[in-house]
Amino acid sequence: MILALAALLLIPLLTLGHPAKAEDRKEPPRQPNGLALTPPMGWNTWNKFACEINEEVIRKAADALVSSGMAAVGYKYVVIDDCWHGARDAHGDIQADPARFPSGIRALADYIHAKGLKFGIYSDAGRLTCAERPGSLGHEYQDAAQYAAWGVDYLKYDWCFTGTQDAKAAYTLMSDALRASGRDIVFSMCEWGTAKPWLWGRNVGNLWRSTWDIYDGWQGRQGNSLGVMDILDQMAELYPYAGPGHWNDPDMLEVGNGGMSDTEYRAHFSLWSVLAAPLIAGNDLTNMTPAIKAILTNTEVIAVDQDPLGAQGRRVAKQGDLEVWARPLASGDRAVVLLNRGTAPATITVNWADLGYPAKLPAKVRDLWLAKDQGTSKGSYTAEVAGHGVVMVTVRPAV
Ligand code: GLA
Repeated sequence: MILALAALLLIPLLTLGHPAKAEDRKEPPRQPNGLALTPPMGWNTWNKFACEINEEVIRKAADALVSSGMAAVGYKYVVIDDCWHGARDAHGDIQADPARFPSGIRALADYIHAKGLKFGIYSDAGRLTCAERPGSLGHEYQDAAQYAAWGVDYLKYDWCFTGTQDAKAAYTLMSDALRASGRDIVFSMCEWGTAKPWLWGRNVGNLWRSTWDIYDGWQGRQGNSLGVMDILDQMAELYPYAGPGHWNDPDMLEVGNGGMSDTEYRAHFSLWSVLAAPLIAGNDLTNMTPAIKAILTNTEVIAVDQDPLGAQGRRVAKQGDLEVWARPLASGDRAVVLLNRGTAPATITVNWADLGYPAKLPAKVRDLWLAKDQGTSKGSYTAEVAGHGVVMVTVRPAV
């Protein structure tokens, strides 16, 4: 009897002490921050200038973004990458390098804002940035507040010197700090894909690097950096994870930096657009050839990148070096890139079946680089494609 009573009394204790079911332990869902509903567009210092930056370089880039017509077609973020930092002051507040930025960051942000542009900056989740400037570890809320006071609209947050830090926890911490700053700040997570940020980054950041750094070349590796084709291959299976406000980031553009031909740069730009990638130019905007400017300002290709449906394209056909990449658009049309990875010109066909269209559907084809309607096709469209080149078209059902 006594034993039975004791057992009865123990039941509630046992229930209380029982570990919660997995679903009870889930964090409340994070809400999107409402920013970057289409992939961010702008310019960043790193690919061309690396650490050779100062306020003059950045002001001139902002001037050129406007005078070149790039701002008018959507490039709005001017982002300072690594190497702007000085030391932390007596309060631990991060300061700009006074030799490179004698007027201070606030003045630079004001200059950029006065041009109708937005301003971005760079930090790192670890002890140091990749170029060994002070990182934000232990200063997350303090740095976010400083950025907000400076008028920062975009933060690229790198992953060097992070030791045993957990990526999701570290990026979530800075995401919360940015939200607490009271300013709308696009959060660009630069973790290189090592902890698969596409699986957890959706409401943490607005974009996440999915690969190692790009270099200005078509194919292959240079140290840890990858050519355009190598990055493309790593992007192929990530299409389910992109959408308005949360993008896979295959790294910034190399268009115009001199290591590739104009044909290759057109391919690079077309593929980034079909991938719904951020379009962050990385060349010297004050010294562009007309061909490079024409690539970066092709409004029909940019419209594919910025399509409001936000669906990332994928590889729908492959035969050796010849590939077809396609992306559904909000209108129901498809954007298609015929890619020739080989060096000799080749004929490539896109079949409607690979676009999810009935074979008998008549559809109007428009070539986005020729800016020319190519008539109505049924079932497929075939084009001659230069080596290391693309033909990019939209396919619109003619009903
Ligand atoms: C890392 C990033 C690059 C760039 C550099 C700066 O390599 O992936 O994009 O920001 O650091 O040091």
